[in-house]
Amino acid sequence: MGVGHRPSRSVQLMAYELLTLERHDNGVAVLTLANGKVNALSGALVAEIGAAAQELTDTPPAALIVSGGDRIFAAGAEISEFGGPDEAKVIGPQIHAAFDRLAALPCLVIASVSGYALGGGCELALACDYRIASEKAVFGQPEILLGIIPGGGGTQRLARVVGPSKAKEICLTGRQVRADEAHRIGLADEVVAPDALMERCLELGATLAKGATVGQGICKRAIDAGLSTSLAEGLLVELDAFVEVFRTEDSQIGVKSFLESGPGNAEFTGS
Ligand code: COA
Repeated sequence: MGVGHRPSRSVQLMAYELLTLERHDNGVAVLTLANGKVNALSGALVAEIGAAAQELTDTPPAALIVSGGDRIFAAGAEISEFGGPDEAKVIGPQIHAAFDRLAALPCLVIASVSGYALGGGCELALACDYRIASEKAVFGQPEILLGIIPGGGGTQRLARVVGPSKAKEICLTGRQVRADEAHRIGLADEVVAPDALMERCLELGATLAKGATVGQGICKRAIDAGLSTSLAEGLLVELDAFVEVFRTEDSQIGVKSFLESGPGNAEFTGS
């Protein structure tokens, strides 16, 4: 892997057992699942994802990259923890809470999908704002092959990303979706060579980190809010956000820099 976009130093602040959370000097954070060979989303791992998401909410990064294992991004919920409806009533809300918290971060959350992203793994990638996949990546919602359905947001977020008809076909057959098809249907936003995956994610993160990060967060919030409302209400949300962004220091810097030096030369402060 190239080192062009690797920051000089990276540290992990809090201790986690089933994931790592690194904060790089440029403000980019990298959360990597590390729960054994298949990164099954056990209750314990989901709890750590929720705790990491809370830590990131308290001290937001400029961009977040969510990564997993090399061959297996994440193989879905820990199947041995399934029971009946009573267990489902506990597991479902825990996954939703953790993924919702990640999704709500005020920065671009980028999924770095190296290999299999199945079931909850696919749902974790869907909770991210943007998915960069390796050519070897394989997506899928195979729950129906176990006689159950996605419970970590898959029925809702997949339909919003690829449209209801394709989401139904994928969820109702449980089939695997390879990287090229994922790209074609919008499930993967970019597909890159396996060796280039983390470098590309860090490059995008670095670009965002140099930008008007508070404005990026306001923009993301407006887009997400508009997805669950009417166009008219969404436009009102945008109006409020448009006023709000003019209160940031970066808006003053950006406008002044454009008038004095042309486009693309602003040096933002992230405030
Ligand atoms: N929960 C618990 N255990 C899992 C798991 C999961 N979601 N996914 C895989 N495993 C276990 C397997 O049972 C196997 O255990 P074993 O070594 O004790 O036999 C081990 O992980 C390796 O899996 P295996 O299938 O042998 O590896 P593979 O490389 O051939 O295939 C996957 C990898 C991810 C494609 C395949 O394991 C798979 O399809 N997993 C299930 C995905 C799924 O249905 N997720 C939705 C859950 S609701």
